[in-house]
Amino acid sequence: MTVRVLTGVTPSGTLHLGNYVGAIRPAIQKSRAEGTESFYFLSDYHALIKTSDPDRVEKSRIQIAATWLACGLDPKRVHFYCQSDLPETVELNWILNCVTSKGLMNRAHAYKAKVEANEAAGEDPDNNVTMGLFCYPILMAADILIFKANFIPVGRDQIQHIEMCRDIATRFNQMYGNGEEIFPLPEALVDEDTAILPGLDGRKMSKSYDNVIPLFEGGEKALREAIMKIVTDSKLPGEPKDPDSTSLTALYDAFASHEERNEFRKKLQEGLGWGEAKEIVFQKINSEIGPMRERYEAYMQEPEKVEAILREGVERIRPMARALVDQCRNAVGLRTFKPLQEKKAAAKAKKSKASLKQYREKDGLFYFKLVNGQGKTLLTAGGLPSGKEVGAHLQSFKTSGLGALKDIFCQLDAEATETEVQSALDELTQE
Ligand code: TRP
Repeated sequence: MTVRVLTGVTPSGTLHLGNYVGAIRPAIQKSRAEGTESFYFLSDYHALIKTSDPDRVEKSRIQIAATWLACGLDPKRVHFYCQSDLPETVELNWILNCVTSKGLMNRAHAYKAKVEANEAAGEDPDNNVTMGLFCYPILMAADILIFKANFIPVGRDQIQHIEMCRDIATRFNQMYGNGEEIFPLPEALVDEDTAILPGLDGRKMSKSYDNVIPLFEGGEKALREAIMKIVTDSKLPGEPKDPDSTSLTALYDAFASHEERNEFRKKLQEGLGWGEAKEIVFQKINSEIGPMRERYEAYMQEPEKVEAILREGVERIRPMARALVDQCRNAVGLRTFKPLQEKKAAAKAKKSKASLKQYREKDGLFYFKLVNGQGKTLLTAGGLPSGKEVGAHLQSFKTSGLGALKDIFCQLDAEATETEVQSALDELTQE
């Protein structure tokens, strides 16, 4: 059985090494594994939450698409597309909005951090909090669930969003699944060793901390310059150094083999100078990134090619998304009228049960007959002078069964059996 792996990168700026190590590299490795179907996309609708600068969004979309291709993503193997080219996501987003409790969103880290920052600054807690930011995890859930993805390679900071996605999927399945699991529950895939890459100052590498090392932007020169800026203590060459006192070591680790890592640590403990250490780190990283940077530059010269690849990517999978959204629409009741009528007819068919019918014959006397759900007459009884008497008999017949008919003229229909009469009576008394 193939498993589905899906992840998104938000094009709200240029990519840094943390994105490469934490998301792109592991995702591309996984996409090469047998038995996986991979979905990698630019979450450009998410970008609108992070920036309101249209030029930045435009530029970043091209850059990030070119980056993934340059890093080795094979668009023939991987479904590679732009979130905003798949309008079905937004349809699903709304449906999921309607099953997601506000309380769940209140707990989202990104939102909470913003509220806390506002409070600390003495601002209104909702200052600069858009509904996009608040509902961000729901759109992410739509991205994941629209393709029923199983595994989501993400950085540690996104684990909570995957958990929220599971909550949302569970809720939807319970409310609308009719016993069926419409959405499988996705799992976050976090690379335990290198999931969070520290930035220049030792905190998590993040654009918001302004401590990033660019992946391709600015070329080799910018990479070297950034590495030279990594914060270390002021120990001189020759003095023993604590390898964990700087983010340099973690950065090296992310690109080095096990043996190389041990050796680097040992050298620092033995007094390797920071300047030299930085040069080693630069060489190591550049040996992996350099060839990719060349491919990146080539794609950036021909952005139409990149766009064509993304379009092909989305066209291939759009029918799948459409079918899923249609299934969800149907599940929540946004259906064509036809199934509704069929349902009514089915309900009606189910309803027609045995009945007792009262009538008057040509002889002027009053009778009743027992008819089963299929309309077959089972017995006729009566021959009484008044409808009222028939009514009284009907009542005792209903409660006491056939025995109550011995006083009056009663005739079992030639084709009816006593068992049929009994089950018709059972139906009547169930009412
Ligand atoms: N929120 C993710 C990020 O900022 C990007 C993203 C959007 C994503 N939709 C997704 C990741 C779905 C995984 C699955 O990094």
